[in-house]
Parts: sequence; structure tokens; C-alpha cells
Amino acid sequence: MENPYIPKRASLVSSKPLTRTEKLLKLRLEDGFPLGGMPGQFVTVCLPGTGEAAISICSFGGMEFEICVRKMGRVTSSLHDMAPGEALGIRGPYGRGFDVDELKGKDVLLIGGGIGLAPLRSLVQYCIANRRDFGRLILLHGARSPSELLFTEDLEVWKGRGDMEVLVTVDRAEDGWEGRVGVITTLIPDLDLDPGRTAAAVCGPPVMYKFVIAELHRKGIPDGMILLSLERVMRCGVGKCGHCTIGDLYCCQDGPVFPYSRIKGIWEALR
Ligand SMILES: Cc1cc2nc3c(=O)[nH]c(=O)nc-3n(C[C@H](O)[C@H](O)[C@H](O)COP(=O)(O)OP(=O)(O)OC[C@H]3O[C@@H](n4cnc5c(N)ncnc54)[C@H](O)[C@@H]3O)c2cc1C
Ligand code: FES
Repeated sequence: MENPYIPKRASLVSSKPLTRTEKLLKLRLEDGFPLGGMPGQFVTVCLPGTGEAAISICSFGGMEFEICVRKMGRVTSSLHDMAPGEALGIRGPYGRGFDVDELKGKDVLLIGGGIGLAPLRSLVQYCIANRRDFGRLILLHGARSPSELLFTEDLEVWKGRGDMEVLVTVDRAEDGWEGRVGVITTLIPDLDLDPGRTAAAVCGPPVMYKFVIAELHRKGIPDGMILLSLERVMRCGVGKCGHCTIGDLYCCQDGPVFPYSRIKGIWEALR
């Protein structure tokens, strides 16, 4: 049996700044195999001598995959400093991502606050690649300011497709911003949703969830159709160390994506 703690060797193909604090890294495993995995899953990025960090997979495709890294501390800063060709370790993909079979036939509302758009980007790409399997695709993205909006090139492409609705907002405007101003939840009341066929995929800062869930409830979306991607401090990623527990669930294995109906009781008790 493969030892889950031994990382696979990978190399950095390219590194591109997205904002002042986020970079998009394209990686390739050196064993010649694709990473595999599903939207919403994560990998553990290992830098010998520095540490490990859980990072969502934000794009799959062929032999390469992408991660979006926010500079936070030791590992993420070192990842920002890496140059193409340098080596790193990858464990995973881990966790339960979005159940794309469950989403088939439904209108999919994606709500990504800040870097929460990263795991949702792989779900958008999946839905676009299998466009006929899904109903409406509606993406909401919010950032603190226009310069902090993520994946702006993708947002423009997705807006231009004609078969996807993309709404963007910022908490505070900057010079030249002509778009919407207000927190991400302000985008929800104006949406015309069919609660009987809409599933919401949500990822963002912890403070966002309570307000998003309240707005989705106002729209009549049932708890089982509200899919939350949660973040906990993770170490092993494989259900052994216990760092990531939410009640009796392991975020690394039972999640990070949970239907709200599954975690409602535990989560409300923890808040
Ligand atoms: C399932 C999952 C998916 C994630 N996806 C991404 C992603 O796509 N892109 C990305 O940039 N980050 C993501 N993260 C967060 C990322 O794992 C942490 O930011 C990273 O581990 C920080 O490591 P570091 O060594 O750079 O910082 P450290 O030096 O370890 O810490 C810097 C600061 O960040 C805090 N911190 C560390 N880990 C976490 C955490 N998990 N949650 C909140 N605060 C933390 C520390 O307490 C400290 O204050 C994800 C986390 C999880 C659990
Ligand atoms: S990260 Fe170790 S049990 Fe989940």
C-alpha cells in the first residue's frame, strides 16, 4: 500500500501574480501521471525544511494542474518565491469535493468570497466542460477592493460566454471602479432562482457563511442543496492527526465540502 505521508515530486511550471498577495502556480507531477481529483479537493504542498500547507486545486487539465496561493506565512511565502523548474512535494488529492453527479440537471449558483473562488474555479471549469449536464450557471464573486478580485481574466471570459451569469462586487471602490459596491450577500436578493432546482456551492471567509446561508434560505434553497467548502487548520490530510475536526467529522476526509444539512447542528454549536 502506498504511504500517504510520502509526497510525490512535482515541479513548478509557471508562476503568475494575480493580486498583491495571490499567485497562480502551475504544477506538474514528475512521475508523468496527471494529478487526478475532482473540483473542491485539495492537495498538501510540501517544501522540505519549511513545512506543508493544504491548498485547493483550482484547475485540472492534462498533465498540469493549478493552485492559487495567498501569501500567509512560511510555506506560502516560499511558494511565492519559487522559480519555474524548481521542485516541491505534493500529497493528495484529498477530501470530498463537490458531488458533481448530484449537481447534474440543476442550476448551479457558485458563491466565492475572496480566495474562496479558487476551489470554485475548478467546479466552473468542470461545469463548462460538461455544459449540457447543468442548468443555469451563476457565479458571484466578491473581494474587499477591485485590486483584490481574483481570476479577472477568467471572469471576463466566463461573462462573454453567453451561457453563464457572472456578478462581481467589491466591499469598497477604488478610483476607476464602475462596478457594484457592497458585500457579496447583497448580490443574492436580486437573483431570480428556482429553489426546486438550484444548488449553491459556497466558499469564502468564515464570516461570510452565516449571511450567505440566511440569504439562500430566504430564496428557499434547502439545507441539503447548500454546499459549503470549509477550512480548518490541517496537518496530515488523511484523517489521522485530528487537527481538522468539526464535531465528530474530519474536515480533511469527510469534507472540505459539506452539505449544510450534514453539519448544521455541529457547526451552529461550535460558532
Ligand atoms: C482545505 C483547505 C484548502 C485551502 N486552500 C487554499 C488555497 O487554495 N489557497 C491558499 O492560499 N490557502 C489555502 N488554504 C489555507 C492554507 O492551508 C494556509 O494559509 C497555509 O497552510 C498557511 O501556511 P503557511 O506555512 O504559509 O503559514 P503559517 O506560517 O503556518 O501561518 C501563517 C498564519 O496563517 C494561519 N493559518 C495557517 N493555516 C491556516 C488555515 N488552514 N486556516 C486559517 N489560518 C491558517 C496561522 O495560524 C498563522 O496565523 C486552504 C486550507 C484548507 C484547510
Ligand atoms: S488533517 Fe489530520 S485528521 Fe484531518
